[in-house]
Amino acid sequence: MTAAPIYLDHQATTPLDERVLQAMMPFLTREYGNPSSSHAYGRTAARAVRTARRHVADLIGADSEGELVFTSGATEANHLAIIGAALAVRPHGGHIVTTTIEHKAVLAACQRLLDHHGYTITHVGVDRYGHVHPADIAAALTHHTVLVSVMHASNEIGTIQQLAAITEITAPRGILLHTDAAQSAGHSLLNVSELGVDLASVSAHKLHGPKGIGGLYVRNGLHLTAQQTGGGQEHGLRAGTPNVPAIIGFGEAAHLITTRSIPPPPHTRALRDRLQHLLLTAIPGTTLNGHPHQRLPGNLSLTLPGTEATDLLNHLPGIAASTGSACNTGNPEPSHVLTAIGLTRQQARATLRLSLSHTNTQQDIDQAARLLINAAHTLTPPPTT
Ligand SMILES: Cc1ncc(COP(=O)(O)O)c(C=O)c1O
Repeated sequence: MTAAPIYLDHQATTPLDERVLQAMMPFLTREYGNPSSSHAYGRTAARAVRTARRHVADLIGADSEGELVFTSGATEANHLAIIGAALAVRPHGGHIVTTTIEHKAVLAACQRLLDHHGYTITHVGVDRYGHVHPADIAAALTHHTVLVSVMHASNEIGTIQQLAAITEITAPRGILLHTDAAQSAGHSLLNVSELGVDLASVSAHKLHGPKGIGGLYVRNGLHLTAQQTGGGQEHGLRAGTPNVPAIIGFGEAAHLITTRSIPPPPHTRALRDRLQHLLLTAIPGTTLNGHPHQRLPGNLSLTLPGTEATDLLNHLPGIAASTGSACNTGNPEPSHVLTAIGLTRQQARATLRLSLSHTNTQQDIDQAARLLINAAHTLTPPPTT
């Protein structure tokens, strides 16, 4: 039997924690009540959803669980935050500031405001590490700006933004600040109260929870225009019968992190640093993308000159990794994030994203390094003198 590939694609999705599955099981079987029902089955489901909501609120540092709206994932949360906030504040013709390195869900939501609601959008650039400079955000604001959306941590290069410094610019002007925190929440990096953001999108499948469930933090008192209306669930912001088993799974995954029932980020960071050292030392000319320190603990984005990252991965059935974000797979265009930090198209095509989590072992990392180094040497033989 061939061994399963070493999984180094945790920024695309993470394996479901066994304890999360166990917590979900009763709600997939005997506890099938609709939390809106007033009978015993409904009350059991409603109680469990309340607990899960508190666990996710605790994970992200919300003041109360009432500030969390469950959605189908971060994509939907981004749409509800950006379109819902923009239309609530100014139904037509406002201005939004975002960045050139956002996830496509954020870019698409902004585009919808441009196409259908008369909004103008400014995309602020980043430096070579992928950092957005707060002064550049300040310079982009106009009297019509209603919302700034800056992702917390990059899904491609891992760079973590200085959101607190951006809040200091937006809050005094009464401009809302949204952050796509799909990648940072699983590493205990997100504290919405400390960062001062008004809206934050999160996703369970990035933190060893189930797919198809996420959430939007909406600061107390903030009004949004619902994007999906009907039964009035989720404080009227997201109609539809809640996905109870997935919500319970999200809550359990969050609880495992806040109670430190899984290895904390330094464990993952140490493995990532080991892999980084092994690869940078053995493959000449390889360069690191993203900020060397202010970066997600599991992220390793490397450019290996002279290679095509897709060829490299095709040579490596023993490793499951990616050339960029999962949602960009199959797109022949180089990643907009890599070109935004100044990589040429060729360099972007020579870039590999390896993303680790606490489920990786040192043995995995050493074996993955051996395989990658062999493949890189085979595909780019050293020049003969
Ligand atoms: C930064 C970021 N935002 C949004 C998403 C979309 O999340 P979901 O799959 O929960 O819709 C992802 C996942 O790929 C992501 O990495």
